Amino acid sequence: MKLLVIGGGGREHALVWKLAQSPRVTHLWCAPGNAGTARETLAAGGTVENVAIGAEDLPTLISFARKNRPDLTVVGPDGSLALGIVDTFQAEGLRIWGPNQKAAQFESSKAFSQDFMERYGIPTARSRTFSDPTEARNFCAELGGRCALKADGLALGKGVILSQNLDEAEAAIQQLLVQRAFGEASRQIVVQEFLEGIEISLHALCDGSHVQILPSSQDHKRIGDGDQGPNTGGMGTYSPTPFLSDVAWEQVGHTVLDPWIRGCASEGIDFRGLIYPGVMLTSSGPRVLEFNARWGDPETQVYVTRLENDMVDLLEACLDGSLDRHPLRWSRQASVCVVIAGAGYPGSAERGKVIHGLDEIERLPKVKVFHAGTVLKEGQVITNGGRVLGVTAWDETLTAARDRAYAAVSRICFDGMQFRHDIAVKGIIG
Ligand SMILES: Nc1ncnc2c1ncn2[C@@H]1O[C@H](COP(=O)(O)OP(=O)(O)O)[C@@H](O)[C@H]1O
Ligand SMILES: [Mg+2]
Repeated sequence: MKLLVIGGGGREHALVWKLAQSPRVTHLWCAPGNAGTARETLAAGGTVENVAIGAEDLPTLISFARKNRPDLTVVGPDGSLALGIVDTFQAEGLRIWGPNQKAAQFESSKAFSQDFMERYGIPTARSRTFSDPTEARNFCAELGGRCALKADGLALGKGVILSQNLDEAEAAIQQLLVQRAFGEASRQIVVQEFLEGIEISLHALCDGSHVQILPSSQDHKRIGDGDQGPNTGGMGTYSPTPFLSDVAWEQVGHTVLDPWIRGCASEGIDFRGLIYPGVMLTSSGPRVLEFNARWGDPETQVYVTRLENDMVDLLEACLDGSLDRHPLRWSRQASVCVVIAGAGYPGSAERGKVIHGLDEIERLPKVKVFHAGTVLKEGQVITNGGRVLGVTAWDETLTAARDRAYAAVSRICFDGMQFRHDIAVKGIIG
């Protein structure tokens, strides 16, 4: 079977690595991929082939697919989904995994998701949507100034401002609604009450009518140790987390996703892909902060290192509507991913630095370095983005997995590299 994976970040390298292990895969392209995907080999023989086409360049992707006829295309990034890549491929008779444009609205419009949650009784924050700054301000005042103010559309993970008082809320309204910091994406904003609690990443595969909930994981959004500094795309993850038992985790999943799937059915939304609600566990129960319509990055890196099913089977089951007949099987081992970023991240990061130590790590057991922002140049691996690598390790206990991940991190070196030193610590002490 010939596969095409769309995207070139850490998530896509992780998907490629896992898909390449399927004996069913005889050819695998990744567009555009990175230096890590280019080095992967297939269990069935052969190597992964990077194709130099951007993940959002739909016309070029379509003409590549028309010519090469992949049996299955797998979409990684939210941007491609929001552009309707799934609808475009389907219109050409090409099989593709991921939600269509209508279903991808759960991520591409926070206002849509918020309305949907209210219609179907999905527990969420008290919230309203605004395009008028004065009305937004009045609602912030009602909330005592402690709010989350969110651009409606996609904003590269930078569209949310948290305020602790009315002055901060007003400044956020200025920035988002008046100055249009994110262009069209902040023509409307969603204002939520500020929630406190433990934040978790809920992931579930969905085939249009059934959901299969993945085990627990937790991301680390802030750049600095101890959750200090600005938000990032995610600086590290681990799975499982100790905050909830497996049973309680499933319960939270069903509390959110049972009404969600009923709502999808009654609105004619055919969601086939991965749904990832960001959830806050508050003292009065779980509350959904937002939905993502694709695999988390770096959550994918820890999930693929624990998943025992053939991933091609699972993705096909999402398309066939047969997910209920494919129970997920997980290794009991814990997995930890530590992200290494370039200098300047989460602002604009330095690029073009040579990365040392990668070959040595390839010989270590139970460690996998997933590439994110890397590129091959004259035989060397060079940094090419904010988040550069996701060093992932697994072992019998979370502590052992964490030690193994950091031992590998210590062998990697490039100019200006930065990483958090406390990934998974919450899971060990907590
Ligand atoms: N209502 C809220 N109360 C407290 N913190 C919030 C709230 N909504 C979002 N956050 C914080 O802001 C982060 C980003 O918000 P989120 O809705 O996940 O948007 P995005 O991931 O698109 O940036 C969350 O991971 C969470 O830490
Ligand atoms: Mg989020």
